[in-house]
Amino acid sequence: AKLHTLAKAAGKLYFGTATDNPELTTTAYTAILNDGAMFGQLTATNSMKWDATEPEQGVFTFSAGDQIANIAKANGMLLRGHNCVWHNQLPSWVSSGTFTAAQLTSVIQNHCGTLVGHYKGQTYAWDVVNEPFNEDGTFGADVFFNVLGESFVQIALKAARAADPAAKLYINEFNIEFAGPKATAMLNLVKSLKAANVPLDGIGFQSHFIVGEFSGPALQTQLSTFAAQGVEVAITELDVRMTLPSTPALLAQQKTDYNSVITACMNVKACVGVTTWDWTDKFSWVPGTFAGQGAADPWDENFVKKPAFDGIATAF
Ligand code: XIL
Repeated sequence: AKLHTLAKAAGKLYFGTATDNPELTTTAYTAILNDGAMFGQLTATNSMKWDATEPEQGVFTFSAGDQIANIAKANGMLLRGHNCVWHNQLPSWVSSGTFTAAQLTSVIQNHCGTLVGHYKGQTYAWDVVNEPFNEDGTFGADVFFNVLGESFVQIALKAARAADPAAKLYINEFNIEFAGPKATAMLNLVKSLKAANVPLDGIGFQSHFIVGEFSGPALQTQLSTFAAQGVEVAITELDVRMTLPSTPALLAQQKTDYNSVITACMNVKACVGVTTWDWTDKFSWVPGTFAGQGAADPWDENFVKKPAFDGIATAF
């Protein structure tokens, strides 16, 4: 079974994965990655972020991002751009810069415009704004919000629309997969942007889950609630981590959890596709970020399919 083929047959646009440049020298990895039937969509894990693309003001480097875009093109895969504006992996000239509102506006316009413009015609969608909210639903106190208030969101969206009118423009966030202050704040943001006619096409649900601590029905409710506002939705960074070592019982629960995520997307017409945050435990970000946790992806460290793979395949 090939996951993108199954997703398409089930009426979705894609099943895809994130990938990162250093991994591309591992031939056992690329042998599975370069299969458009398995993965119909790619996201660059790191190489389209601000620190990678505009490390110094006005100096743009696209070679690493292009490498990922070219793999997508060569294999007929859609590309999701990730991302234009985010408080992490932001070069210090931005994060520690002293800008007037007018100056930071043009910094955002130039960054988003140049980045999105570079990939014009190649990108299905862009995560224009990534992770704008704190858990309590207030905006993060980063340079963008501190200088511009929430207007930074529409500045970025409008610049992205102007640079590539065909790309779907997303706001991407985590912990909006269940009801709570963060999901409410995001819903209110969507309503206010729509009311002001700001270009916005989609909401990305990152979906970095923990084995056994995830509710498919709650996710489905959130997907439908956002879709009711006239946006599409997508699962953009799926993984389901566990405290190591993995056991057969944990892997079985993980299979159930992956199945529940796909089922939630299947049950919501506006859910266009699912992206895993890399597909193999070998290159997962989880062990490096969450101490003692891992085994979050559908393939193991030796590129062998885990029960989670069947959990995905049988839900499409
Ligand atoms: C992560 C990458 O996977 C890591 O390699 C990097 O060191 C940090 O960023 N939410 C996001 C992604 O939107 O960009 C993050 O990716 C994971 C959390």
